[in-house]
Amino acid sequence: MCGIVAYVGKNEAFPILVQGLKRLEYRGYDSAGVSLVARDLHVIKCKGKVSDLEELAATRTVPSSTSGIGHTRWATHGPPNDINAHPHYSGNKRLSIVHNGIIENYSELKEALENLGHVFLSDTDTEVLVHLIEEFQSKDKLKLEDAVRMALQKVIGAYAIVVMDREEPDKIVGARLSSPLVVGIGEDAYFIASDASPIISHTNKVVFLNDGEVVVLEKGKDVVITNIHNELQHPKIEELDLKLEEIEKGGFDHFMLKEIFQQPMTVADAMRGRLSAKEGWVVLGGMKEFINRIVHADRMILIGCGTSWHSALIGEYLIEDLARIPVEVEYASEFRYRKPVLSHKDVVIAISQSGETLDTMAALELAKKEGALTYGIVNVVGSSIARLTDSGSYIHCGPEIGVASTKAFTGQVTLLSLMALSIAKRRGVVAESYFRRLISELETIPEKIEKILSLDEKIKWIANEIKDSNNALYLGRGYNFPVALEGALKLKEISYIHAEGYPAAEMKHGPIALIDENMPVVVIATNQSAFEKIKSNIQEVKARKGRVIAIVTEGHEDLKELADYTIEIPLTLEPFTPLLSVVPLQLLSYHIAVLRGCNVDQPRNLAKSVTVE
Ligand code: G6P
Repeated sequence: MCGIVAYVGKNEAFPILVQGLKRLEYRGYDSAGVSLVARDLHVIKCKGKVSDLEELAATRTVPSSTSGIGHTRWATHGPPNDINAHPHYSGNKRLSIVHNGIIENYSELKEALENLGHVFLSDTDTEVLVHLIEEFQSKDKLKLEDAVRMALQKVIGAYAIVVMDREEPDKIVGARLSSPLVVGIGEDAYFIASDASPIISHTNKVVFLNDGEVVVLEKGKDVVITNIHNELQHPKIEELDLKLEEIEKGGFDHFMLKEIFQQPMTVADAMRGRLSAKEGWVVLGGMKEFINRIVHADRMILIGCGTSWHSALIGEYLIEDLARIPVEVEYASEFRYRKPVLSHKDVVIAISQSGETLDTMAALELAKKEGALTYGIVNVVGSSIARLTDSGSYIHCGPEIGVASTKAFTGQVTLLSLMALSIAKRRGVVAESYFRRLISELETIPEKIEKILSLDEKIKWIANEIKDSNNALYLGRGYNFPVALEGALKLKEISYIHAEGYPAAEMKHGPIALIDENMPVVVIATNQSAFEKIKSNIQEVKARKGRVIAIVTEGHEDLKELADYTIEIPLTLEPFTPLLSVVPLQLLSYHIAVLRGCNVDQPRNLAKSVTVE
């Protein structure tokens, strides 16, 4: 949700900011803008993408400036237009600000400031905040950082901000509460950004700001971090192990396609060092410290949003099936507001690619308060959820930049598989021979995904056959029911075709009414346990002239006659079918979206990291 980048150093700020904004564009792309200082503050901003900003800048003289702030927006307050684009000026144009988050009490603050004579140009809560900083600064003749601290004491809501001051051109001030901010420490240069991706081409030395902290970065001076009450904090400088090629497309047309094709590697990375089929063990380092509470938990509650919630659903099947602990799955946004009954015998597992989703974070805070053990399954190293939870495991998939999640999903499901296996073994609820078969099978998943990826051309051909549909239905049973939900979500996210996922048997209770010759029905028919039942479901669709695309197990000939199109995936043990069956669905959505001319990496209205409620 909105990307922030800021720089102060010796070089020209504008190209650094633009390059940084491009790396952050996955966070929102409703508008883009920068602020630079050359005696006066200059703001260049417009509706649209960073490329639109570059075009606009090409028509103007961009002032030479060695400090600056930049923003790419996902609109919350006010429509995406030029005026609401960030940065915003203070009334006296001495300050400019970029902001990610929501100021909840902005209307009261606005009214109070209007009574003091402030006039606002935009509909944003952000402009209110910069006017508030201005008010403190000019009333009490404060330095920028002091005015920022005073203003933030009045603010309710979530923010990551960076502010600059015409009178102190070599300084930028940042602050965070619930929205991420990373400080980069280079040679003779400082950076601030929403994540490390704009920073790593300059330095790998970073400080992750904590909630409630304010950072002052001034050319030639040390980094100063305080809280909003001006008490000095002691930052931990970390060295990031992130490579530039990890955040570039590497020859693929889109990040999404690159990330789909990375899955043999990322699934292997999620398992690396955590299991040995030969020696018969599975270990998750993050579980060690709390192993007794985990193994003897009364209940596990898996929370997440979007694709991560679908992983959680698969986690429910895995943990109940293999480890025999009762599991509940909750949308983080619902969980946090419905007074859940929790105890210290519960383990709450938060699943999040970004580690920054606000609803998931709030749900975790609630779970912690109620005494539950909290565990994070997260991709982004050092993210808020990783730091908030009692313990956790990274999925080690590397940066996921395509807005539609793919490799993070398979990474999360891999991690949940390891978790279920490890708990099952400790609880003694799985036969040794089956346990050994399961871990040997899990180790083969990367090469099986590789095999599915070789079907790309065939999947593209099927995509072309159904690309003009207005609706689609996805059906699956058991482990494949959440995959049906995920397949439908992928399609609607990036191709804007309305799609629904259903448990196959539920089709009779409503969706069947929609089926006609124009309706593609994707059926995941790999389950060994309910194969005959799924076959009947396909027959029911065919009887209504629906067009069936069946995902089947290699060599299963009897569905070939029945279905209009089949995609064969390798045989695996049932608990791991989601890791395979989701891959053709990712490719199908990708190709349909490309064929329809959609921007797959930046679908309309979406953002990758949702740091607002
Ligand atoms: C957004 C993204 C989805 C993602 C969801 C949860 O909606 O577009 O791809 O699944 O947020 O994000 P998280 O980072 O918590 O997994």
